[in-house]
Amino acid sequence: MNIVLLNGSPRAAGNTTEALKMLAEALPAGSNVETVNVAALKIGGCKSCFACKQNGGTCVQKDDAEEVLAKVVAADALVFATPVYFMGITAQLKALIDRFFAKVDKLQAASKKVAVIAIGGTPPPSGQYDLIAGNVQAICAFLGWEFAGQYVAGSFQGDEAKTAAAKKEIAALAAKL
Ligand SMILES: Cc1cc2nc3c(=O)[nH]c(=O)nc-3n(C[C@H](O)[C@H](O)[C@H](O)COP(=O)(O)O)c2cc1C
Repeated sequence: MNIVLLNGSPRAAGNTTEALKMLAEALPAGSNVETVNVAALKIGGCKSCFACKQNGGTCVQKDDAEEVLAKVVAADALVFATPVYFMGITAQLKALIDRFFAKVDKLQAASKKVAVIAIGGTPPPSGQYDLIAGNVQAICAFLGWEFAGQYVAGSFQGDEAKTAAAKKEIAALAAKL
């Protein structure tokens, strides 16, 4: 199984990165897992020029999105992982998601299981987690993908009990992919 983990955090050693490591460790041996550190790439926001709709799905922007989108299309499972920034997904990850626009046909033709990881400073329950999970669920409904589940939490790093709980919950999420 080909699993792509989209990390929307700019922090290389933050909670989101650690959560994705926990997920990768819990996936079945033999899974082909690739983490894409979206915030480290150059990915511009969609310009709404609609050129991609005239030319068969290629964006006019020559940046890193094309390579990541090819990985997304090829994935059997996809994880959107993000810190909560102002109640939502980080701008870096949202820029990539908006670039899905160029590849809608290919993405709709490629079935996938999808999970979301969202980690904020404020622990759940909080409407911000419903917004983020709801956003990803709506993307799945539009593209015909299967929403497998979510892990949402407040920051756990530096707290042993919270980190142990995160590991357990994230392993349960990995089993759904
Ligand atoms: C720009 C910015 C906006 C943030 N907005 C929120 C927010 O709306 N809600 C929240 O719970 N935490 C918010 N936080 C806190 C982060 O979500 C939290 O520290 C998270 O654990 C960071 O993830 P990371 O460790 O992977 O970088 C914000 C942090 C930053 C830097």
